[in-house]
Amino acid sequence: MGKGFTVWFTGLSGSGKTAISKFVEKEILKQGREVEVLDGDVVRTHISKGLGFSKEDRDAHISRLGWLASRFSHYGVPVITAAISPYKDIRNNCRQMITSAGGIMVEVYCECDLDTLVKRDVKGLYKKAIAGEIKNFTGVSDPYEAPDNPEVVCYTAKETVEESAQKVIDKLYELGCLKKKGEADEPYSEEEKKEIDKRLEALGYL
Ligand code: ADX
Repeated sequence: MGKGFTVWFTGLSGSGKTAISKFVEKEILKQGREVEVLDGDVVRTHISKGLGFSKEDRDAHISRLGWLASRFSHYGVPVITAAISPYKDIRNNCRQMITSAGGIMVEVYCECDLDTLVKRDVKGLYKKAIAGEIKNFTGVSDPYEAPDNPEVVCYTAKETVEESAQKVIDKLYELGCLKKKGEADEPYSEEEKKEIDKRLEALGYL
């Protein structure tokens, strides 16, 4: 079993989180791993049903994603989350939960300027938000706190979805979350290696 990790996408609505996540999901599956995808829109139809977009509701929604991700991490199952997750503190709490459960959090910031998002407006929501028809719309009438030190930044106004996804995939290999075919797993953990060295030293072999 490999290590549990969570690819945590964050960024404004329409910034490419879901599109990029599909490519990343495909790569993880190609490596013979399972992967659980927790998309904000989808989770809002199930365990976050009834929650709105106030800070309180978003925090509750994101904490649920983080808690679920931590449980999957505990069992070594990779997770992808794709939700705006606008608040830094809650994202950091989620990182804490995931790492405490033995997983790695790989935060991916999908950066895109508002002009481009308004031009794209795939769901037609920016137009409504600017017209004041949707209240508390992230990036228009509600805050978005960009991460300070994300593992990956995708500049989605300039990069293709494939280019952005490749940056995420490269990072997963670099961090050891994924292993190239034929790359053997380390037979011993760092702790076990230390213990072995201690015993060899006691026996006078080192
Ligand atoms: S989060 O802020 O709680 O992380 P989440 O990613 O689950 O948000 O859902 C965001 C999606 O909900 C957007 O892509 C958009 O389609 C829809 N949405 C509806 N109202 C709002 C709003 N006020 N702010 C942001 N997104 C909204």
